[in-house]
Amino acid sequence: MPVEQTFGHTNGHTNGHTNGYTNGHTNGVSNGTNGAAKTYNISNRGHSDPDKIRVICVGAGFSGVCMAYKLQTHAVNYELVCYEKNDNVGGTWYENRYPGCACDIPAPVYSFSFEPNPSWTSYYASAPEIQKYIVNFVEKHGLSKYIQLNSRVVSAVWDEARGEYDVEVETPTGLIKDRCHVLVSASGVLNKWKWPAIPGLHDFQGPLLHSAHWDDSVDYKGKRVAVLGTGSSAIQIIPSMQPEVSHLTAFMRSPTWISPAVATDFIESGVVPTDKNTPVQTAFAKHQLTKEQIAKFEADPDEYLAIRKRIEATMNSATDVFTAGTDMNEGARKMMTEVMEKRIGDGPGHDDLKKRLIPTWPPGCRRLTPGDGYLEALVQPNVTRVFGEIVSVDAKGLTTDDGMHHDVDVIVCATGFDVAFVPPFTLKGRDDKTIQDEWEAEPVCYLGLSAPSFPNYFICLGPRGPWGNGPLLPAIETLCDYFLQAIVKIQEDQIKSLEIKLAPTVQFNDHVDEWMKTSVWKTGCRSWYKMGTVDGKAWLWPGNTLSYLKTIKQPRYEDYTIEYKNDNILGNGKTLSEITPEGRDLAPYIRNSDSPWTVY
Ligand SMILES: Cc1cc2nc3c(=O)[nH]c(=O)nc-3n(C[C@H](O)[C@H](O)[C@H](O)COP(=O)(O)OP(=O)(O)OC[C@H]3O[C@@H](n4cnc5c(N)ncnc54)[C@H](O)[C@@H]3O)c2cc1C
Ligand SMILES: NC(=O)c1ccc[n+]([C@@H]2O[C@H](COP(=O)([O-])OP(=O)(O)OC[C@H]3O[C@@H](n4cnc5c(N)ncnc54)[C@H](OP(=O)(O)O)[C@@H]3O)[C@@H](O)[C@H]2O)c1
Repeated sequence: MPVEQTFGHTNGHTNGHTNGYTNGHTNGVSNGTNGAAKTYNISNRGHSDPDKIRVICVGAGFSGVCMAYKLQTHAVNYELVCYEKNDNVGGTWYENRYPGCACDIPAPVYSFSFEPNPSWTSYYASAPEIQKYIVNFVEKHGLSKYIQLNSRVVSAVWDEARGEYDVEVETPTGLIKDRCHVLVSASGVLNKWKWPAIPGLHDFQGPLLHSAHWDDSVDYKGKRVAVLGTGSSAIQIIPSMQPEVSHLTAFMRSPTWISPAVATDFIESGVVPTDKNTPVQTAFAKHQLTKEQIAKFEADPDEYLAIRKRIEATMNSATDVFTAGTDMNEGARKMMTEVMEKRIGDGPGHDDLKKRLIPTWPPGCRRLTPGDGYLEALVQPNVTRVFGEIVSVDAKGLTTDDGMHHDVDVIVCATGFDVAFVPPFTLKGRDDKTIQDEWEAEPVCYLGLSAPSFPNYFICLGPRGPWGNGPLLPAIETLCDYFLQAIVKIQEDQIKSLEIKLAPTVQFNDHVDEWMKTSVWKTGCRSWYKMGTVDGKAWLWPGNTLSYLKTIKQPRYEDYTIEYKNDNILGNGKTLSEITPEGRDLAPYIRNSDSPWTVY
């Protein structure tokens, strides 16, 4: 039996005003009949006095904890609960525990922009180190009071009369019911790992591993291991496992680009020399920072800031690389081809590897990965490269379309995720519409953050978000700022529902489809950006990350349909500064220069 929920954390309402009224207080126009005189009741509240609001956030990865931080830091009179299905926060970085898992963008910029970490030990921080950063962030800011672990949101249903979502959550003690005015989905896109559809896969008698569902108890050392895939996960797994296994068979049915690392100049003096006993570096060992370098970053935040800005600016100034045929993209193709050929080197079968691995489609079509040590690992004597399709798996190994059977002891599927973009819970909005039905043909999503028919519902990094366009964390932060602004507006303007209109949503998607026609993402690779297709629509942002941030920095409320609880937000003529003056400026516009001012 479902029970009423008891979770969540109420913030200390810092306004200090007497909050004894209910939202339903009468201050609107009472519509008299037959032309009778209207009554107009003035509220006893101050101007824009924020309503109490309850927010539910699904997930506690980078997005969920950022949402919690932003609300705690900038909102008042709210309740928040972040339901997280796992037994820890972290999302991607908690779940992906495969050997070599690390970020593939420079670590100095893979942290919240306002919470730098000068202590990363390597240029590509490892998953455990990133996970530690997230856990520390939660602890430092006291966010765990909002987070309910082991709790999977299974459904959310909009109640038109109340202007709330009824939310059901599976917990270890059973199904609970909760409710909220605003629902934020921070449930991740790369969060539903899936087995590849290969006949007989589960007949295999040895350990069967998936990159995003790693079993640490499996000892693969000295064993014959098959690794499936040429995506970012396989590219990190192969150089990490190859030195430790007796034989590695890499099943590579698609080519891929391996990019050089960006903006490494600042660490060159700190690169740890290659360990002579290790033939190939693991994905994150090569650019390990020295103690001296870390100490320098820790001691000099300004220098570290300058480095972070430089890396980010480098990534933000390569938009032309996303367009096929541009000088920048063709230049990248030439340079990466040369580097890949050099790194693969000469030897038996090496030319075949170059021919099969270096794509004909342009760089960037699939996610670019630096792949430290990947190409070098592929040409080691204990590695077999297999380029065909796997047609079946049996108890002892895998059979490819050339009829060859490959005996192995362990199979590692680095075969990716189910990226359908619909939320991992049933979402029912207005007029009984479910997002699962509405988005069945394709997502109908505005700026990757809201959806028509689903009022007061926000998505952190939905379809057409900047997944492949540059740095992701600034997008997550700016999205949370957007949701925060909307939440505060809902509170202060006494809004019942905020629903994105269909017209701007359609217009936005038309724009993206047109923009994508010349983009690299529409060229001939298969990618999760196109939901696993070769020629499907690309569900990415049409531009660079900076243009995404500029677009969403301020919500365009004219794109939304707004329904108010009350017509009158002016209140009793007083501002909150007058009602609760402590610590507030009652003359904010009296100043010595034309600096911004605001009335509280
Ligand atoms: C292996 C890997 C490496 C990556 N490397 C990089 C990188 O180098 N640079 C980069 O910018 N990006 C990288 N990404 C993308 C990465 O996912 C994002 O950078 C970021 O971590 C996303 O955070 P998130 O909170 O939005 O999603 P997630 O980290 O996926 O978190 C979502 C959370 O929601 C929870 N959840 C899901 N469904 C429910 C439910 N129904 N109820 C309750 N909780 C639920 C999940 O358990 C999870 O904790 C990588 C992704 C993967 C998979
Ligand atoms: N920081 C990082 O470096 C990093 C690391 C991991 C993941 N990520 C993120 O996560 C995303 C997903 O990466 P991923 O590598 O896990 O998944 P992915 O990019 O979707 O790659 C999956 C790979 O598995 C192959 N595959 C799937 N089914 C197969 C089958 N039946 N037989 C043989 N091969 C099969 C695919 O081949 P086809 O291409 O032929 O379909 C592809 O090479 C990345 O794009 C990136 O955004 C980032």
